[in-house]
Parts: sequence; C-alpha cells; structure tokens
Amino acid sequence: MAAATQSAAPAVTAVIVLAAGQGTRMKSTLPKVLHPLAGRPLLWHALRAGAAVSPERLVAVIGHGREQVESYLAAAADLAHLPIRTAVQAEPKGTGHAVQCALAATGALDGTVIVTYGDVPLLRGETLVALATEHARAGNAVTVLTANVDDPTGYGRITRGADRAVTAIVEHRDADAKTRELNEINTGVYAFDGALLGQLLGRLSASNSQGELYLTDVVQLAAAAGRPVGSVVAEDAAETEGVNDRVQLAEMAARLRARLVRDAQLSGVTVHDPATTYLHADVRIGPDTEILPGTHLEAGTVIGSNCSIGPDTTLIACHVDDGASVVRSHCRDAHIGAGAQVGPFTHLRAGSEVGAGAQVGAFVEVKKAVIGAGAKAHHLSYLGDARVGAGANIGAGVITANYDGVHKSLTAIGAQSFVGSNSTLVAPVTIADGAYVAAGSVVTEDVPAGDLAVARGHQHNSSGWVLRRRAGTGSEAAARAAGASGTGNGAASGSGG
Ligand code: UD1
Ligand code: CA
Repeated sequence: MAAATQSAAPAVTAVIVLAAGQGTRMKSTLPKVLHPLAGRPLLWHALRAGAAVSPERLVAVIGHGREQVESYLAAAADLAHLPIRTAVQAEPKGTGHAVQCALAATGALDGTVIVTYGDVPLLRGETLVALATEHARAGNAVTVLTANVDDPTGYGRITRGADRAVTAIVEHRDADAKTRELNEINTGVYAFDGALLGQLLGRLSASNSQGELYLTDVVQLAAAAGRPVGSVVAEDAAETEGVNDRVQLAEMAARLRARLVRDAQLSGVTVHDPATTYLHADVRIGPDTEILPGTHLEAGTVIGSNCSIGPDTTLIACHVDDGASVVRSHCRDAHIGAGAQVGPFTHLRAGSEVGAGAQVGAFVEVKKAVIGAGAKAHHLSYLGDARVGAGANIGAGVITANYDGVHKSLTAIGAQSFVGSNSTLVAPVTIADGAYVAAGSVVTEDVPAGDLAVARGHQHNSSGWVLRRRAGTGSEAAARAAGASGTGNGAASGSGG
C-alpha cells in the first residue's frame, strides 16, 4: 500500500478510458460522458487526467451514443494534446468486456496499461501518476486504486490476505455479509501489466450476479497465479466518485469549481468571492490579477497578470493581456490588450480586438472590430466590422451601419481621428487618419486625412415662435423672462450649425 503522492510518471503504454455505459439515470438524449462540467464534457476531464501520464496511446471505449461521442472526439482531436483512439463496445457486457474491446482495437499491449472511467471527472492526473509510479516501483502485475469510504454500498470491496496483500475484488451484489462490512472499495482505476492483462481477460467468465465479464476478476486471477497485486489508497476518496445522475453532476461541478478557484488563489490570483466565481477547467489566470464577485471565466479564457475582472462579468474564450480591466461586461472570443479598460456594461462579440490602453465603455457593442491602441469609445456605440486606428476618439452614440440587409461592409476609422457624437458611418466608408466628423453626421463618403466632414441638415431658428404659438405656457414665460422680445413676425433668422 502507498499513499498517492506527486512525481514524474514512469512509462505507460496505454490509458484506457471506459465510456461505453448507458448512463440511464441521466435521463438524457446526450450520452452521459458528454454532459459538461466546468465547461468541458465529463470525458474531456477523464482524458485530460489520462494524458497526464503521457501514455503512448490514449484509448476511449465508447458504445452508447457512440456517433455523438465520436464526433465530439473528432472535433476536439487535440483536447488532451495526444491523439485519441476509440474502440467500440457495441453492447455493454461488463467492464472486462470493455477492456477486451480496447485491446481488440489496439492489438496486444506490453508494459503498463492504466484503466479508468469516462464518468469520473474529478480524478487528477497526479493521482494516475502516483498509481503508475507505485506500480513500477513495486514491480506489480496489478495495482488497484482503492479508497476508504463511510458508505461502501454498491462498490466492489477489496479483500486482503493475512499479509495484507490484495487477494480479490468482490462486487457488492456478489459479496457475503462479512465482505460487505469492508470499507475499502475499488475505485475502478487500475494499472496492469499489459501482457498479463491480455492473457487474463481471456479467462474471465460471466458467472456472476449480472452475467457480465468483470474486469475486477483479473485481480483475483493474478493473485491466484502468484503475481504481485498491490494498491494505492486515494488520498481523497471524493476524487474517484463517478457521476450517475444530474444531482451528482451538480455536486461534482461545485467541488470542481471550489478546486479550480483554490488552485487559482494558490497561484497568486485574488478571488474576492469564491462562492460567486465560476472558472472553467482550463482557464489560465496570471498572478496578482483580481477576480471580483459574480465573474464567469469560461473555456478557452486566458488572463494575464495584474488584471481586474468583474464584478458581474462573463468572458468566454477571451484573451486578456496584463494590466487590463473588465467591469460588468459580457465578452466572447475577444482579445483585450494590455492595460485596456472595458466596461462597465460592454458587449464584446466574436473577433473583437481591443488594443493596448484602449477604452471601451458603457453600452458599447463591438463585433469583429479592431480598436487600435489608446483609442476610446466611451459611450453607447455599435462598432461592427470596423477598424479603429490608434488614438481615435469615438463619440457617444456613434454607429457603424455595417449591414445593408444583404451584405456586411467595413468601416475604416483612421489613427487619431475624431468621430463626433451620434454620427452614423454608413459602410463601406473610410475616415482617414487625423480626420474629423462633426457630431450628428451621417457619413456616406470617405473623409480624407485632415478634413472635417459635416454631414447633417443646417439648423434653422424660427424667431419668436414660442411666444406666438405657445402663448400662456411655462415655456413662453421662461422665454420672456430670459429676454425674448416677442417682436419677431415669424420671419426666419437662420443660424448655421
Ligand atoms: C465498477 C466495478 C466496481 C467498482 C466501481 C467503481 C466492475 C465489475 N465493478 O462497478 O468494483 O467499485 O466500478 O465505480 O468493474 N462500462 C463500459 N462498458 C461496460 C460496463 C461499464 O464501458 O460494459 C463503463 C461505464 O460506462 C462506467 C464504468 O465502466 O464508466 C463503470 O461501469 P459501472 O457499471 O458503473 O460499474 P459498477 O457496476 O459501478
Ligand atoms: Ca458506477
């Protein structure tokens, strides 16, 4: 017996992840192993842990819902930074049969073969490394990852001989009363000598209460043949729990979330409120960044150091460079440059780039637009399919009219240009470097460098109109108090604007 500790992994030939079971209790058309936890399917977590031992082969045994699982694996081909091969178990005839299917797909395997489950998402790669390490150190034929639990009901029990060596795993249903009192359970995770595994799988029989081929019987066969069988006791039994229904799914999600937040904190991230901070599994956050309450950082998000994120912010697959801040905002597939300031209440959509030191403020929506370094769009704008040059100033309410009902077109706004408030830039259109656009303009033609574009109706004041047409109102009284003479006869007096 050895406790799980962390070290470099010894050579592992294959990790086989069993994921062919039906998952009936999920009551779902989605295969169980594709249900997400911390933004990634259960199977992703299992494969990620398997990849941590750097096996030569990573194999998923699939069966139930296999088309869906296969297409997920194909789309996420590099999810574990290793090629993943699939083996099909057409009918779930037991865990032993599932491993037979894996070996039928890979061919005979020598060296160390690890078996684990696709529905055990909290299992850490470090634990598999510890298992492989002990397996190699002790020269075992089989090493079982076991756990001591308060309620072992339903699990296979570990039986040991007088010398404490593992003699067998007895399934709960097949166990007598005395064996059922044992609290040490089989987690379902093992390291095997591959050649021996291949031989012993051929000797399994289905003469048990479920009429299945039990992988657990390999343990007894190995021990009876005098081959060394050892164990590693999981430090944290909770890590080896499987997901069977959606209640457990939520419980696992809560535990994984707590772990991810804690890992972030221990790596130098200030998390003000762990209870309302949601981190997906592979989010990376640099040191001295602070995460304010109500923040969701979803899959694919990478945040630099010294950033401030939140409160009440969701970032999905975003990259945020050092020193940036994002306040009460919703961003997807966006890149936020160093020292940039986003929010409050900003919506960055796919393909948005906010340059270093740029500022994008309240109720500004950005889609597939590059905002240059130091540019500002502080209030109430829509910038879509646009390129905003460095240092440009986008006034309140500026809109890029990028869509004519059929086509999307580009708006180019030059460096150090100034677009006055409430202007509409009708794409395709270019405002050159250093150009100005007067407030309220509807710009349909390009503005050359250094020009001022004024594209709006001229202002006309109808002299004394209120005194004549709104006599007796507060407006008339206020106008007279302010010196309006009432001598006007209705003739217009223009005043440019
Ligand atoms: C199994 C172990 C038991 C252990 C428990 C830990 C056996 C016989 N028993 O029991 O000792 O305590 O896990 O959770 O192995 N699977 C397949 N194909 C199959 C059957 C199962 O791929 O034909 C996969 C399932 O998808 C699942 C895993 O293997 O991921 C375990 O299957 P499950 O039926 O839950 O095993 P248990 O009966 O719980
Ligand atoms: Ca199970």
